[in-house]
Amino acid sequence: MEQKLNLGENYQINRVINGCWQLSEGHSIKNDLDFDDVMRAFHMLAERGFTTFDCGDIYTGVEEFLGKFVRELKHGSGLSPDQIQIHTKYVPDLDLLSQVDFAYTEKIIDRSLKRLNREILDMVQFHWWDYEVPGCIETAEYLARLKEKGKIRNISVTNFDTRHLKELVDAGIPVTTTQTQYSVFDRRPEKGYLEYCKGQGIPMLCYGTLSGGFLAERWIGKRMEEPETRSQVKYLQVIEDSLGWDGYQKLLKLLQGIAEKYQVGISQVASKYILSQEGVGAAIIGIRNSRHVEDNLKIFSFELEQEEIMEIRRFLEAYPTVEGEPFEQERTIGSKYRNIMWMNLNEEE
Ligand SMILES: NC(=O)c1ccc[n+]([C@@H]2O[C@H](COP(=O)([O-])OP(=O)(O)OC[C@H]3O[C@@H](n4cnc5c(N)ncnc54)[C@H](OP(=O)(O)O)[C@@H]3O)[C@@H](O)[C@H]2O)c1
Repeated sequence: MEQKLNLGENYQINRVINGCWQLSEGHSIKNDLDFDDVMRAFHMLAERGFTTFDCGDIYTGVEEFLGKFVRELKHGSGLSPDQIQIHTKYVPDLDLLSQVDFAYTEKIIDRSLKRLNREILDMVQFHWWDYEVPGCIETAEYLARLKEKGKIRNISVTNFDTRHLKELVDAGIPVTTTQTQYSVFDRRPEKGYLEYCKGQGIPMLCYGTLSGGFLAERWIGKRMEEPETRSQVKYLQVIEDSLGWDGYQKLLKLLQGIAEKYQVGISQVASKYILSQEGVGAAIIGIRNSRHVEDNLKIFSFELEQEEIMEIRRFLEAYPTVEGEPFEQERTIGSKYRNIMWMNLNEEE
């Protein structure tokens, strides 16, 4: 499997993207982060070819931190800033959706440019909290105008479903990729969304691939205690509505058996399984420290056999997956998935 993915002319990303939500204020529930170590991890990852970073306008403090990284690259002797790719998001606040206009959109894009220390945003992934509020297509069109103005290189979406992505595509919005939650046991994209995206040539950039770190040896035989991060709060709900803790333990054992054969870890098998699905462009793996840098390299050190992929699939078929399309539960008023989300983080400084 190639480590790089071409997304149109002159734009290439790594198939494992460095996820930066983990660095936003409030994400770590236990233990503070060591930001010097995180910066070290960024340099190490980039030097090893993991040059693509994912952040968001609503990830408090993260665009600024990546801007600092860009500044270090400008003044250092290693990679230059144009050798890395930074994907951000445009996530207008739920409470502001009905007021979003071109001027507001441009202000947020300019803010990302300034924070990130960039002249053009490599990718802006658009999110719309509530399809009932009109303006979703119009707002994507504002982004298309900003692309024409030279402020954005690629327009993408995040957390869309089939119907609403189709509406954007049919309206002529040039959607490059879709960022979607997809892991071994969160199989909601397989209900139709992945197929539609594949048909449109829109690669899926998947988050949740490691389920907040739950897909790792350290959880074998463990009971659930307190979640350590907001990611884990989120993915625990998925475990609850799919495998249950017992089924999850069995999955860990199954993945461990495969991992041992290739001398890698469960996390690498879980990432490779998702990367092996047709239509998947990349897996986004959250970075909190420099501990896992070398592990990420191992993802490209082996290939899963078709029979191993089928074995995982057969195991999963005995269990339910979360109801609905990607992000459908997260949008449903009263759902536990929605209740844990913060939907008004984009307030201006
Ligand atoms: N669009 C959206 O709505 C959305 C939502 C969520 C996430 N995302 C994006 O996706 C990224 C990933 O976030 P996520 O919540 O899905 O988390 P994740 O990538 O599933 O899990 C990240 C955690 O896994 C552990 N980990 C990382 N590499 C590992 C390895 N090689 N072996 C074992 N454990 C490893 C780390 O924990 P330790 O360091 O503690 O071991 C890390 O905190 C985010 O940063 C963000 O960019 C987007």
